[in-house]
Amino acid sequence: MNYDEIYRHGAAPWEIGGPQPAFAAVLDRGVTGPKALDLGCGTGELALALARRGYEVTGVDISPVAIDLARAKAADAGVAVRFEVGDATKLPAAEFDAVFDSGLLHNLHREDEAQTAAYLTLLPTLTTPGGTVHVLGVSAAAGHGWNMTEEFLRASFAAPTWTDTRVADIEVAAIVDGQDLTMPGFLLRAVRA
Ligand SMILES: C[S@@+](CC[C@H](N)C(=O)[O-])C[C@H]1O[C@@H](n2cnc3c(N)ncnc32)[C@H](O)[C@@H]1O
Repeated sequence: MNYDEIYRHGAAPWEIGGPQPAFAAVLDRGVTGPKALDLGCGTGELALALARRGYEVTGVDISPVAIDLARAKAADAGVAVRFEVGDATKLPAAEFDAVFDSGLLHNLHREDEAQTAAYLTLLPTLTTPGGTVHVLGVSAAAGHGWNMTEEFLRASFAAPTWTDTRVADIEVAAIVDGQDLTMPGFLLRAVRA
């Protein structure tokens, strides 16, 4: 998928003017902090929501166009977020207390098995022991080539690397041709052992 082109044309269906509603409960209940990482952050809505709640946030996206837009939003809002262009399958190890993925894994899983494996191998190296990972994605139940299942998520975030893995059924919001729609999805939370 050419994400730069999609962002340049303002046609990204996941651009809903805020973070995915299913993250509201996570944001309200409190996030393991202080350091949060948003992988595949797009134009930064979730990263900005986290930063507004006082977390020290880094957002990474492979699309330079998305990162430019995210930086502009942060500057307009007067919110400090570190936005960087990067490939989430190739990041150096780091210690984040909370790692967020809003719609990245489901695309990798749909498009590229090797990249999916690389990403899943890397995630524990980015999460501090006791830290949490939160992954939101569209479920295979949505059809149209989506292929993420609860079994896949549970197998990907299993012991001994991850503990307390929970997968909730949620709705993923999108805007297509100006119409709001929702698709069945999952929100996973797991703790780095
Ligand atoms: C479905 S969009 C979700 C964007 C944002 N998280 C949101 O919820 O609005 C997926 C994002 O992942 C980014 N992406 C795709 N492959 C990536 C990779 N290997 N590393 C980092 N970002 C990637 C895309 O550029 C895109 O912004």
